[in-house]
Amino acid sequence: MYTENMQASVKKVEATRAERLGMEPRRMTAEEKDTLLQKFHPDYRKEGFAEIKIGPNKGEKAPAELSHLLHSNSRLLGVDLDLNKIDYDTDVLIIGGGGAGASAAIEANEAGADVMIVTKLRIGDANTMMAEGGIQAADKENDSPMQHYLDAFGGGHFAARPELLKRLVMEAPDAIKWLNELGVMFDKKEDGEMVTTHGGGTSRKRMHACKDYSGAEIMRTLRDEVINRKIPVVEFTSAVELIKDDKGQAAGAILLNMETGDYMVARAKTVIIATGGAGRLHYQHFPTSNHYGATADGLVLGYRAGAPLLYQDTIQYHPTGVAYPSQIFGALVTEKVRSLGAMLVNVDGVAFMHPLETRDVSAASIIRECSERGKGVTTPLGSGIWLDTPMIEQLHGEGTIEARIPAMLRMYLNYDIDMRKEPILIYPTLHYQNGGLEISGDGFTKAIDNLLVAGEAVGGIHGRNRLMGNSLLDIIVFGRNAGKAAAKKAKETELGSMTLEHVVKYAQELKAAAIESEDVSPMLLPNYARHER
Ligand code: FUM
Repeated sequence: MYTENMQASVKKVEATRAERLGMEPRRMTAEEKDTLLQKFHPDYRKEGFAEIKIGPNKGEKAPAELSHLLHSNSRLLGVDLDLNKIDYDTDVLIIGGGGAGASAAIEANEAGADVMIVTKLRIGDANTMMAEGGIQAADKENDSPMQHYLDAFGGGHFAARPELLKRLVMEAPDAIKWLNELGVMFDKKEDGEMVTTHGGGTSRKRMHACKDYSGAEIMRTLRDEVINRKIPVVEFTSAVELIKDDKGQAAGAILLNMETGDYMVARAKTVIIATGGAGRLHYQHFPTSNHYGATADGLVLGYRAGAPLLYQDTIQYHPTGVAYPSQIFGALVTEKVRSLGAMLVNVDGVAFMHPLETRDVSAASIIRECSERGKGVTTPLGSGIWLDTPMIEQLHGEGTIEARIPAMLRMYLNYDIDMRKEPILIYPTLHYQNGGLEISGDGFTKAIDNLLVAGEAVGGIHGRNRLMGNSLLDIIVFGRNAGKAAAKKAKETELGSMTLEHVVKYAQELKAAAIESEDVSPMLLPNYARHER
């Protein structure tokens, strides 16, 4: 299914394969990485960012699209709402139905709280479902949480908040045990030991996986548990503003029924934002591996209510998004493909980098190869680099691709590309927001009482770059903790009278800063018609 120019390049890849099978490309030095990142990583392109003009992070930069949303109007301006007419009343309100939200709901329910999930699509329509390669945990003899900490801290440029990262790695083994007991079908050897592999930047094999649909399998299990526990899930309903009480505590949210357009009041003693990522904002026009609803809603809700952001200016571009065929442009090609031995190779068949550098370094290196060095393969939508997948079968034996990465195999077979026999073309895709709302170790935001955040909407767990498999881990660790903490806090909470005064004040701040916008936020769903303009 490849074009003529691609076929000519495949011949060069095949010609160098035997020699490459016996070698390991050298790793870059710290200095080389720094220079590379500054020149080629999208986080360093000044034109991709805009200053935040109001609110707790005033004066800092954020991706231009996110700044725009923070400068947009509340959907509630001019809407006549009666906060005394309460449609839903619960102890713990969870906004978001992905892995973090579901984990939080299960633990809050376990702790005896009344809990409700509200989600703008269906439960499980989330980046968790899209995650492929695996989940990290140092639960084998040659490994330790300390080793896991060092890998993640270094990989994140020493910027992770120590109290958050410590929690992530220390509670990882228990997260795996919990998921296993809930019924997640992890890859296991015949004797029951879990199969673990490397990811980029890991010093030990600690990636636990369910073939290459790890996230889908984890989400399936969590969703079943939520349903079995009869936890209420209000689907196709978005939170559009947080409600506070007159003591300044989070006290619920205004909900929008996505089908009827009606607004509703949900009162809650504690609120957990678990709204996930931002890929559908298509920062710097990148395609994305994210699900359709990843529009940074929680960041907008929290920020407008006064919660600060942390590292909102750092984004993860997964090195291997699909570059060809165009129908699946930007879809994720799991890092597990490189863990299994596939090399990144340029148009001439040259392996130009070690395949398991950390993600920011890998993405920048691929961008350099295609731009400055002109060594990419031309595609209908730009250019790409080969991921030499036939190496996997040569290294580990025939049948490995079918056994270990069947979802990848099928995705490409749909377009008549057999990755067992031919390499595949990749280019970086917008994958993850490293930044988000700032929390302390217990999951509460620092500025607003009774407001917690879990999952991708949190900033600071991973620093300025995340390692593979630490996101599926953080949704479980921080989701579970948020659920427990929210349930406990709800028991001690007396709510005052509810108010949307913070929304009015935010609008006044926008006006005082002479910011005029015709748009509203949170965005809720991407507007592709507008992107085409
Ligand atoms: O490459 C992957 O499978 C993605 C994993 C992750 O983002 O953790």
